[in-house]
Order: sequence, then C-alpha cells, then structure tokens
Amino acid sequence: MRRTQVAIIGGGPAGILLSHLLHRHDIDSIVLERQTKAYVLKRIRAGVLEYGSVKLLRDAGAGERMDREGHAHDGAWIAWQDRAPFLIDTKTYAGRPMMSHGQTAITEELYRIRERDGGRIVEEAENVRLHNLTSSAPSVTYDKGAVTETLECDFVAGCDGFHGVSRHSIPKETLKIFERAYPFGWLGIMSETPPVGDVIYARHERGFALASLRNPNLSRYYIQCGLDTEIADWPDDRFWDELKRRFPDDIGRKIVTGPSIEKSIAPLRSFVAEPLRYGRLFLAGDAAHIVPPTGAKGLNLAISDVFYLQRALAAHFANGDDRYLERYSDMALRRVWAAERFSWWLTKLLHVFPDDDAFETRIKLSEFDHLHRSKHARAMVAEQYAGLPFED
Ligand code: APR
Ligand code: PHB
Repeated sequence: MRRTQVAIIGGGPAGILLSHLLHRHDIDSIVLERQTKAYVLKRIRAGVLEYGSVKLLRDAGAGERMDREGHAHDGAWIAWQDRAPFLIDTKTYAGRPMMSHGQTAITEELYRIRERDGGRIVEEAENVRLHNLTSSAPSVTYDKGAVTETLECDFVAGCDGFHGVSRHSIPKETLKIFERAYPFGWLGIMSETPPVGDVIYARHERGFALASLRNPNLSRYYIQCGLDTEIADWPDDRFWDELKRRFPDDIGRKIVTGPSIEKSIAPLRSFVAEPLRYGRLFLAGDAAHIVPPTGAKGLNLAISDVFYLQRALAAHFANGDDRYLERYSDMALRRVWAAERFSWWLTKLLHVFPDDDAFETRIKLSEFDHLHRSKHARAMVAEQYAGLPFED
C-alpha cells in the first residue's frame, strides 16, 4: 500500500504541472499515467500560450526553455480571401503579448523538472479506478504489470484528458454535460520548414486554414476538412496546394513547403462537464472540458484550472482553509465558459459550415468587415484571445 496527499490521474500538461506546483508547496503527489512517457512526449498538440500561462510557468521556475525557444508575439492575424488581414493585437488592446511554444516542449520540460526534483510518476499505470471519493479517505487502484497496486490519498486530481476514467467515476446524475459537435475537422501537418512567422487564421470559401509555428525551422499548418477525410488521400503536395489557395496570394506565396513529418486529423467539439468536483475528486483540463482549437484555449484552460486547484489544495494543507476548494468548480468554470464562448464564436466565424447559405455567408462577411473597421470590435476579440486574468 502506498500513500500520498494528492493522487494525480494523467501525466499530460495538466497533471505534471499540478504535481510540480504542489511540490513547490511541499505537498506530496503521485502521477499515474496510462501511457509511457515516450508516448506522451510524442503527441503533437497546441502551440499558443496566453500571457497568464507564460507568467505562471515563469513564476513556477518552469519558463527558462520557453523563454529561450518560444516565439513572443503581439497576437494573431485574421485573413479573409481578398481583404487585407488584420492583427488581433493583444499587446495594444489587452496589454499582454502572446507566446508560440509547443505543448510537447512544455510537457517535456515539466517532466524534466519533476524528475530532477524526485517527483513520482508511474508510467503504464493501467486500469486506474477511483474509490471512496465522497469519504475523507479516498483511494486509487491500478495495475502495473501483473500487480494491482493501491494508493491511499487525501485528494484525487482527475487530469486524465477527455478519454480518462476520472470524469466517468462521477455518478451520471451528478454531472451535467454540455456539448456541441462541429461538422468538420482539422487536417494538420508539421514540417521542418521556416514558418511564415506569424499565427494567421484564414477564412476562405474553400474552408478555414491556419498557419502557425513551433520554432524558426518548424511550421504547423491546418486546413478545415470533412469528417470523412482520409489522411491517405492527402499526400503532401495536395495539402500544400490546398493550404496556399486558402490564404490571400501574398501570404500563400510566403509559405515554404517541404516534406511533412507528421500529419493528423482532429474533429472539432465543444464539451463541458459540470461540476468539476465530486467529493474529494477534482477535475482539471481536458478531463472536464474541450474547446475547438480555433481560439487556442485548450492548453491555457488546463493551466488555469491547475492554477486554481493548486492554490486551493495549498490553502487546505497549510491551514485547513477550504474556501478555495469549495469555490474551485465555480471559479474554474467561469473561465472555461468564457473560453468556450470565444472558441465557439471564432469557429463559427472562420469556418464554412455545410449548411451555410448565402445569407449566413453575407452575415459572416459583414462581421469580418466590422472587425476590420472598428477598433472596439478588435479590442473585444483581442481581450479574449489574450486570456482573462485569473480570479483572486
Ligand atoms: N489512467 C491514467 N492516465 C490516463 C487515463 C487513465 N485512465 N486516461 C488518459 N490518461 C492520460 C493520457 O494518456 C494523457 O497523457 O491522461 C493524460 C491527459 O493529458 P491531455 O489529454 O494532454 O490533457 P490535459 O493534461 O488536460 O491537457 C490539455 O491537451 O488536448 C490538449 O488542447 C488540449 O492543450 C490541451 C491539453
Ligand atoms: C498550433 O500552433 O498548433 C495552433 C495555433 C493556434 C490555434 C490552434 C493551434 O488556434
């Protein structure tokens, strides 16, 4: 039998960051991750950090690599066929810059720091089950090889992503699910080519496209695709042709093509499970909510949940003050819903829906013109793209 103060289910960015922040409060935790570390670090995910996330990583002593390798910028561009693109200028309108830095690199760095500090991470922890969550002595069992282990703890943090076990450990009648599926996905590639240099979202009558980056020789691009799209039907040449067509000519011409080193399709969905607490179980990150990637909010929400949760657990263990724990779900959900709304709105604006008729298309065009003309409209977008401040 093992014991820890906080059993953390899932070793993605939410779980590992939580473990690191708790360690800084002298709170012991064990991370149970279903996959191998190598597998976790191979996954290619998000790439844009809000300033609040940047500051949190820096303040937690986990920002050095980000500051060395990341690309700081003043926001993202929106392009619309033949119109001039405009900048969602987070620096001017929200007073906060952004940072392009891959989730893969952040997770790799957090693993390095956790291992340096003697953090306990169990890889290939299979068949994780949560027990006695509404008692004051919850526990977690899992299989490691042929052995079933039991971990006793004070709290369980469910950081095991959308397909994890934690959310499903909450009785159905306690959870309220809010969901929206979109009738398209994103086909993304990574290529070792110099990026255009900015994050550029483009709407085109052929569909949405996005240019992004990881470092001076690593580019990330996406195009909107149908849900029945097969990767095999998209050799690199076809992808590059389609990508370039969806950007205004002058941007399309700047795209440097080359062989892809990764190609994948992700469906788009909005999902929220409420509340984020059940007894001594607290959900954080993708375990509780999914946003479509259009607003670049997924990783930032995982980070803000973890910020609220570690502060709440720190107050509990330091002086038995449970006020933050009691407010965790409501406080985190306010930020989650703000990001859900923004991501849903930007997804609708920038994508072509199969049932968009001529009226809908004109309305979107008019909204784009409004953003173009009105600095107040742009300020509203910039404030949300930059990310809302954490609540006290
Ligand atoms: N037991 C243990 N671990 C599990 C289980 C399980 N039953 N199920 C899933 N996991 C692990 C996964 O293997 C993964 O490593 O939990 C981890 C969850 O990590 P993420 O899916 O990356 O979720 P999170 O840490 O909340 O980070 C959110 O990921 O999907 C992106 O856009 C999202 O950037 C955001 C970030
Ligand atoms: C990415 O770089 O992968 C990326 C950037 C912006 C988004 C989504 C993904 O909105």
